[in-house]
Amino acid sequence: MTLAGKRILLIISGGIAAYKSLDLIRRLRERGAQVRPLMTSAAQEFVTPLAVGALAADHVYTDLFSREDEQDVGHIRLARDCDLICIAPATADLMARMANGLANDLASTVLLATNRPVLAAPAMNPAMWAHKATRRNVETLRRDGTTFIGPMAGEMAESNEAGEGRMAEPLQIVAAIETLLDDTPKPLAGKRAIVTSGPTHEPIDPVRYIANRSSGKQGHAIAASLARLGAEVTLVSGPVTIPDPAGVTVIRVESAADMLEAVTSALPADIAVFVAAVADWRVAAASGEKIKKQPGEGPAPLELTENPDILKTIGHHENRPKLVVGFAAETSDVISSAQAKLARKGADFIVANDVSPATGIMGGDRNRVRIVSSDGVEDWPDLSKAEVADRLAARIAEAF
Ligand SMILES: Cc1cc2nc3c(=O)[nH]c(=O)nc-3n(C[C@H](O)[C@H](O)[C@H](O)COP(=O)(O)O)c2cc1C
Repeated sequence: MTLAGKRILLIISGGIAAYKSLDLIRRLRERGAQVRPLMTSAAQEFVTPLAVGALAADHVYTDLFSREDEQDVGHIRLARDCDLICIAPATADLMARMANGLANDLASTVLLATNRPVLAAPAMNPAMWAHKATRRNVETLRRDGTTFIGPMAGEMAESNEAGEGRMAEPLQIVAAIETLLDDTPKPLAGKRAIVTSGPTHEPIDPVRYIANRSSGKQGHAIAASLARLGAEVTLVSGPVTIPDPAGVTVIRVESAADMLEAVTSALPADIAVFVAAVADWRVAAASGEKIKKQPGEGPAPLELTENPDILKTIGHHENRPKLVVGFAAETSDVISSAQAKLARKGADFIVANDVSPATGIMGGDRNRVRIVSSDGVEDWPDLSKAEVADRLAARIAEAF
């Protein structure tokens, strides 16, 4: 609940991307935010106030001269009774009105009257975005203090149109809002961290690979928590299907060998947290061609060879980060295995967890870990992976 209790005034103006704002409302609310919607009259041509109000569970403000809403000068209340104003989508027209200080409808009047941070997510045809008038208006708004997210490059809703002008995706807008409203202390400001996450894929041939059940949820959450504490985070991720965490640089890799190379290239760092479930073995000689099933010959033999040990390599590296944390996923002898790993791998602490199928930890949303260090063993309760990440990031921050 990263936005618990935060009040967002969401201004929807009249562009095709207004349909994405419906999803944005859901994403904000599931993070604990209260969303108060305001729609321009053009926006109501694209999505209905009924859908917006139902998703926001609030009254939808549309009219500057509303007899009910203006009984107590509602536009000034709207402008002030929020933590942040988000305009998504922000049309060229609304930005032009803002840049020129116009107040000829409810949206522009509220934007002129507000003293809150404003985040705009522009969306328009690439030619409109590239036009000198829009460039001028955006520059003016930036100077006046508006923050922008996007637009992104890609296909437009209009056929045969592509370029810069797509509205940022709802989760990218949420991440920008989280960053703007983030008032947590930054004990890791100026520190560099490397986090590995997810499984590795070890090729057998061009179409087959050996993998494991790691989802990347725990590693990605740790990267996000370290970034929230101010660290500059490089996340080296194996193949996963979850979104990139906010505010981190993501390097995507496939195999253990690629992961080690990416981690080594990201050095020097102050902190390294090795969460990825790196395959211990790979196929000794992966085939360049798809291995064919030969009638009567049975399965092809697979000779395995040991993969590089990323934790051990970095734990003993000449450029070793000040703090090195390893993860130990075991299905038996969890503590003794972690204790053995600690010195052998050169880690400061090992986060040990039991990934037996009955625990549901691998791929699940919760985790029960023990922190094994030279000081002993700390037993943490059953927590969400996000909570484990926050506690671990706070524990890491204590070391600096
Ligand atoms: C089908 C259609 C799609 C439009 N899409 C956009 C758009 O994506 N971005 C934009 O800036 N304007 C777009 N416009 C133009 C705006 O709707 C128009 O400038 C309107 O005056 C904006 O009003 P508002 O800023 O008060 O919402 C579109 C118009 C139509 C008819």
